[in-house]
Amino acid sequence: MALSKINPTKLSSWKKLVQQFDKENNLHINDFFKEENNRLDEFCINWENFYVDFSKNRLSNNSFKLLTDLCKETNLKNNIKKYFNGSIINETENRAVLHTALRSSENDEVNKTLKKIINISDEINSAKRLGYSGKKITDVVNIGIGGSHLGPEMVTEALLNYSQGIKPHFISNIDPDFTSKLLEKLNPETTIFIIVSKTFSTIETLENANKIRTWFIKNASENSIKNHFISISNNTEAPKKFGISAENILSIPEWVGGRFSLWGSVGLVISIVIGSENFNDFLKGANRMDIHFKSSPFERNIPVVLALISIWYNNFFKCETEAVLPYSQFLSKLPDYLQQASMESNGKNIDRNGKKVDYETGSIVWGSTGTNAQHAFFQLLHQGTKIIPTDFIAFKRPIHGDSNQHKILNSNFLAQTNALMIGKSTSSENIHKNIDGNKPSNSIVINKLNPFNLGSLIAMYENKIFTIGSILNIYSYDQWGVELGKSIAKEILLGHDEGLDKSTKKIRKQL
Ligand code: F6P
Repeated sequence: MALSKINPTKLSSWKKLVQQFDKENNLHINDFFKEENNRLDEFCINWENFYVDFSKNRLSNNSFKLLTDLCKETNLKNNIKKYFNGSIINETENRAVLHTALRSSENDEVNKTLKKIINISDEINSAKRLGYSGKKITDVVNIGIGGSHLGPEMVTEALLNYSQGIKPHFISNIDPDFTSKLLEKLNPETTIFIIVSKTFSTIETLENANKIRTWFIKNASENSIKNHFISISNNTEAPKKFGISAENILSIPEWVGGRFSLWGSVGLVISIVIGSENFNDFLKGANRMDIHFKSSPFERNIPVVLALISIWYNNFFKCETEAVLPYSQFLSKLPDYLQQASMESNGKNIDRNGKKVDYETGSIVWGSTGTNAQHAFFQLLHQGTKIIPTDFIAFKRPIHGDSNQHKILNSNFLAQTNALMIGKSTSSENIHKNIDGNKPSNSIVINKLNPFNLGSLIAMYENKIFTIGSILNIYSYDQWGVELGKSIAKEILLGHDEGLDKSTKKIRKQL
């Protein structure tokens, strides 16, 4: 059972949206507030530890209603069922898409791996598992790239306040200088290395792992590899050849895509750093969001609403980008993580019928933390010529209780969403001070940055990504575009340049 194959632009709700857009695209958000008495009730969702306000958007009640009709016409409800029940919805790779199962505790294979994750992290944290010379482990290095890096690094950093003491490090890029510099700081006696690669064939990861292996056995015996190296992969043979013992090889099921894999074995580094109890809370929070996504009506469904707003700006206003602005320094890697999750998924131009699309698909996702970003690119948000839809993410309470500083942080968050919307018209002769406002934002307010809520937040975005792909009739779970560059790089390394264009051939000679 595959996802339904419907061109959204041919549907009556889409056609009505085109007409509705013509009527309202010049209106100011302030006008919607004046005209729609129930706007705040209808455009705010209070769910568990989340409060989501999407009222500050260039979207009328009528358009919102039509967008929810679009969900019905594209069979979203049924498609969500197929996503969760293991249907082969990744048709181009003939796979199910079941990363949501990694956080639902209903699957034996998942539970077996989770037990291994808990055991390894508990043993390391309680000093039951020691380094080859009998010393306590102090550092963990995650070697992996893309989905095998961005999620684990983002979450580990976001939850550093919950650290159990082991220091995390990440090697992703193939940059010999970076790896050498990091190795200078590490003690092989007290460091664990996790090689994360679903395929165990990614050149960056394998090269870095081999470089570290060489460094390691200069200091320790080859036999000690079994104490210090763990591999996360669905390739079992290659890690064994590397010297990793069977009990230190954790699998990744076929039905988990790299960019959605942090909930399972790929999240081992997270569990080691924040401890297995916190890791469990993280999974529970994500599962709660999945339940909300499966069971809530479209107009009260946070991931669905965010997806509809994204489609509205992307396809009707023709906004090319959307920004994510967390007001927490610990979430500084969230935009990078979402770039892969979102752009690798929905950056597609062939639809599920095998036809070239004639509408917009994935948006460009970018962002940074507030208030830093206010002092960098916010000028363009306020007075530039582009409309940039934004997600502001803020937390009600700080983790450490410095409520004074937290108040300053949150006052800035409030001020920005307010200013973006209402602007400021000046009667003075200085027209440069005029700020039109009418700039859209969503406010996602969460009780506190903790493992449970972070799990919910990431699952919210994952389910938003699914919804966009489902409605826009594309396949969100392959990444053939990325594969092309990888294979050309291999040819170049082998010295083959027959397929290269003239410009690239000439640049090659410069290197
Ligand atoms: O960059 C493309 C990609 O295939 C990602 O989807 C994936 O997360 C990453 O490479 C790493 O792949 P692997 O885990 O197999 O090393």
